[in-house]
Amino acid sequence: MDKIIIHGGKKLSGTIPVSGAKNAALTLLPCALLTDEPMTLRNLPRLADIDGFQHLMNQFGVSTTIAGSRPEDFGRVMTLEATRITSNVAPYDLVRKMRASILVLGPMLARMGEATVSLPGGCAIGNRPIDLHLKALEAFGATIELAAGYVRAIAPDGGIPGGSYSFPVVSVGATENALMAAVLARGTSSLHNAAREPEIVDLCNLLVAMGAEIEGIGTGDLVIHGVPRLHGATYRVMPDRIEAGSYACAAAITGGEVTLAGARAEDMAATLQALRDAGVHVEVVKDGLHVAANGKLRPVTISTAPYPGFATDMQAQLMALLCRAEGSSVLTETIFENRYMHVPELNRMGAHIETKGRTAIVHGVPKLTGAEVMATDLRASMSLVIAGLAAEGETQVHRLYHLDRGYERLEEKLSLVGADVERVGD
Ligand code: UD1
Repeated sequence: MDKIIIHGGKKLSGTIPVSGAKNAALTLLPCALLTDEPMTLRNLPRLADIDGFQHLMNQFGVSTTIAGSRPEDFGRVMTLEATRITSNVAPYDLVRKMRASILVLGPMLARMGEATVSLPGGCAIGNRPIDLHLKALEAFGATIELAAGYVRAIAPDGGIPGGSYSFPVVSVGATENALMAAVLARGTSSLHNAAREPEIVDLCNLLVAMGAEIEGIGTGDLVIHGVPRLHGATYRVMPDRIEAGSYACAAAITGGEVTLAGARAEDMAATLQALRDAGVHVEVVKDGLHVAANGKLRPVTISTAPYPGFATDMQAQLMALLCRAEGSSVLTETIFENRYMHVPELNRMGAHIETKGRTAIVHGVPKLTGAEVMATDLRASMSLVIAGLAAEGETQVHRLYHLDRGYERLEEKLSLVGADVERVGD
């Protein structure tokens, strides 16, 4: 298994291109199921999760072709064509590797009148149930059956009537599934307390480009007028706000200065505010962001929250940065119950972090030291890379497959800005 070796202490300087957003791509891809016409996605990141989703779509009989595969290209173009769907079952083997597979439930139900998806099971950052996905589909008139580890959703007489659902908790995935189901419903549907993440707006924009009728895009109240059919579309995946935020933390912890080409500041207000509060200089420039730090960082108190709040997917990376602040920061994780797996590993690198339930107190330290570390999720792994960039000596981050799920060519992008990083086989 590959690992990454970092020799810390280099100030990052230069330009990092921001890739297409993983989490947007994972909800745009299943939209191909909603039409028998070709759908083309541009700016798809080259990531293991995207390859996994392509494989899942192929398993349903969806044909996929990829352009832009030159090794020097960042991003790819994929055309998906679901002319004839040959299976409506997402098997355990694929779903267990990639939780986002659950996002085929809504569109498959809408197109085929029936969908069967393996239950995703446990996950490194908490239980992550899918009850809200199922309740929303039920509210739209689907029947849900659970048996042998699978969930089966069935529409009466082959089509969902549509309905109204109010989420008790904001859920990104459940909002996405419900939206993709409602666009082909027989009637009008409404969603209240829906997630407002930029990736949901990206999804709505693609659906509208395919002929869907959605009101309230970007708000927590969505009204979807079902249409009898959707057509194909060509769509560019939005830039990855979490990747951009991660590299901003990486540059800041080294006291460096980078331009994040293609980053969209309006999607990242809470992250940018947290960075500014920490004393990092952030400026919106033409087609991107400029981030500069002078080595002095201030402590920050912040809680994760649904968008437009501070993203849980940025918590671990910000924590790594705050390890070097002058004073104590307080981070509270309100979205997932078990999202501090990076804490013991950061502490092994000389950080001083205490956790009490959902709160972490990060006492800034004057230096971090390199170590062999590993993490059990994507963003936790990135926080160890960020710490390694500022640590004295050598850091080895194991279990690189987590990073390959979410960071397109991490070591290449970091090398572009002067980091001493290399990928080696274990
Ligand atoms: C998505 C993102 C993930 C991000 C998360 C929160 C993708 C592929 N993943 O995950 O990177 O960390 O949003 O921004 O886009 N919940 C329930 N029942 C449900 C669904 C969710 O109780 O049916 C709870 C979850 O346990 C969690 C909270 O709701 O506590 C938010 O989860 P949710 O927004 O659904 O996260 P995901 O869509 O899985």
